[in-house]
Amino acid sequence: MKVLGIETSCDETAAAVVANGDDGTPAIVSNIVYSQVQAHAPFGGVVPELASREHVNRIVGVVDQAVEEAGGFDELDGIAVTSGPGLVGCLLVGVQMAKGLAIARNLPWLGINHLEGHLCAALLAEKPPEYPYLALVVSGGHTHLYHVREFGSYELVGRTRDDAAGEAFDKVAKVLGLGYPGGIHVDRLAQSGDPTSFALPRGIPDKKIFDFSFSGLKTKSIQTIRTSSEPMEGQRLSDFCASLQEAIADVLTKKAVLAAKKIGVNGIVLAGGVAANSRLRALIEERTAANGMWSFCPPRALCTDNGAMIAAAGWSRFKTGQETKWDTKVRSRWPLDEVS
Ligand code: KG4
Ligand code: ZN
Repeated sequence: MKVLGIETSCDETAAAVVANGDDGTPAIVSNIVYSQVQAHAPFGGVVPELASREHVNRIVGVVDQAVEEAGGFDELDGIAVTSGPGLVGCLLVGVQMAKGLAIARNLPWLGINHLEGHLCAALLAEKPPEYPYLALVVSGGHTHLYHVREFGSYELVGRTRDDAAGEAFDKVAKVLGLGYPGGIHVDRLAQSGDPTSFALPRGIPDKKIFDFSFSGLKTKSIQTIRTSSEPMEGQRLSDFCASLQEAIADVLTKKAVLAAKKIGVNGIVLAGGVAANSRLRALIEERTAANGMWSFCPPRALCTDNGAMIAAAGWSRFKTGQETKWDTKVRSRWPLDEVS
């Protein structure tokens, strides 16, 4: 079975094809990502209207390339597309493309939840993690913990009460003048920094609460930058980035391990753009191992938005005979635990 996956929920125009791999898992055949980062950079963040227009301009080329590299449209058995959550104008571009192709090629289509897509990046590994596990989904818009009993079964365990972890990275990076999106720049600069240089707060330290809060960290960080007696550059900038990154990775990993223990699962799977962060990846490995647990992080390129993760989710759902109805609407808000 070959499945085309289309992703246009935010600022990446992406398409990929997956096929049957070994041991009943999906495998990537092609994977094309057009990042709109240059278009949004002058504005310091994603401009929804501009993002929709960019998707309209790019989607045909991106889909064509992904399908061509996979042997052409005749090879496809189904089309999966992100239908929420995300920016409505952006989601509509991908969904209309998918529906148009489905009609033209007489193929079934499936609307996929973007967060389920992020989790399905794990299915593309040579040896995917085994259920059940605790999932930590960390992206620009989400910081959520889910108890994943099996594919398609997601129970919310904790969530951010204010900003997402990616938002904290991006907003502080913007004040530092590091460009958008800032997470990857903080990660790079932190490599040569001392994470103990700046004392930054950890939100909701109560060990029995699995919710997160990053607004205090964001405010304190911005205040520290603005009131700094010396300019934030050179080693001082690296030290600050390392301290910010440590504060985020520390609280994410601590709560994830505590939550996994509480619900009685032995493994933690990371997903979403922030899962590409090098310190978060190292710390989750360290802390799960110290507690006799396992952890799994998808390859970095599959953590940020891409079509392969959507194709993998579609592949899994098509296998059970699912299809989406033609009148299904896109959803700007679509909690993962409402996916059936
Ligand atoms: O999943 P994603 O590509 O898009 C959303 O669904 O939001 O995640 C984007 C987020 C941004 O906030 C970006 O700064 C962050 O992921 N990100 C990182 C890194 N790479 C991407 N954050 C920290 N370290 C990174 N290496
Ligand atoms: Zn995402």
